[in-house]
Amino acid sequence: MARIGILTGGGDCPGLNAVIRAATRRSLQRGHEVVGVRDGWRGMVEGLFVPLGPREISGILPRGGTIIGTTRTNPYKVEGGVEKVLSRFGGDGGGLDALIAIGGEDTLGVAARLYRENGTPVVGVPKTIDNDLSGTDYTFGFDTAVSIATEAIDRLHTTAESHNRVMVVEVMGRHAGWIAVHSGIAGGADVILIPEQPITVEDTGRLLQKRHAGGKSFSIVVVSEGYELTWESGEHQAVAGEARATDQFGHVVLGGVGDALAREVERLTGYETRVTVLGHVQRGGTPTARDRVLATRYGLKAADLVESGSFGRMAALHGDAIVDISLDEATAELKTVPPEWYDVAKAFFG
Ligand code: F6P
Repeated sequence: MARIGILTGGGDCPGLNAVIRAATRRSLQRGHEVVGVRDGWRGMVEGLFVPLGPREISGILPRGGTIIGTTRTNPYKVEGGVEKVLSRFGGDGGGLDALIAIGGEDTLGVAARLYRENGTPVVGVPKTIDNDLSGTDYTFGFDTAVSIATEAIDRLHTTAESHNRVMVVEVMGRHAGWIAVHSGIAGGADVILIPEQPITVEDTGRLLQKRHAGGKSFSIVVVSEGYELTWESGEHQAVAGEARATDQFGHVVLGGVGDALAREVERLTGYETRVTVLGHVQRGGTPTARDRVLATRYGLKAADLVESGSFGRMAALHGDAIVDISLDEATAELKTVPPEWYDVAKAFFG
């Protein structure tokens, strides 16, 4: 019998509980003990463990958030943090035999380093609504975020049309524009602005003018929170307030690009413009059926990786198959939106 820990780190994401349920169910069936590590890596640093049994995981499949909590704690930034994490494994004190870390680039970056430098028995599950982890076709949570953003765009269409307005919709996506591109395509956006392909505010204005010259009197612009306002002069401006605090992984709190963009659109075109920032609504609530299924498959795979002692690996989706890849490969670089994906979106601009 092994003692298996499960932690969820970074921003929460619809489907986390479905992974916890699946990994726990399969591990309990094999006769193992499962514990939830509270609040991401903080729980490993501070030894915050809670039992996960049939009762704890009952009914959690459709529930948003994470029943074991999450933080952006980075043990490499906490004094003595790594030593404390390592001390939670093995020994006679009921230490862990294995850890399932469910997270994005930061959480899994820590897992990859712990495995690389210390041989820590850890496996990963790819989570982020941003869908920017390498080595997997999709992360769970992304489909839910895209569905929520698409529904919002659909709703904004009718009010935009009634008032002859431009609606700017700011969606999440710190480094990658996956949510913007997918929801923008699904919702029929007229311009989509993402960090990877920063088209200028002047071009944005011209695209809207072209559309209005063609007889339309309203438009929808979708912008990723990580897009930098860019002007033809070469000037550009990241809109996250520089004065704002960063987390332990060095990320600033984003938000506000939609407002800045709307002001520029109004200045350049004279069209009345309104802004909607979807924010954490995209991460809250129940996961879509697709995310529940993907999260469940990932959870089972993580339990299997632990069973076979395949540490330093992460569950991944390749086509329709769940496979495993190394945590190093998954966290080496971010998966950004390639030009061919943006071309699909661009076909409908203006
Ligand atoms: O990484 C996922 C994400 O949702 C990003 O898109 C966003 O910038 C960030 O988390 C927001 O984080 P927080 O919950 O700390 O505000």
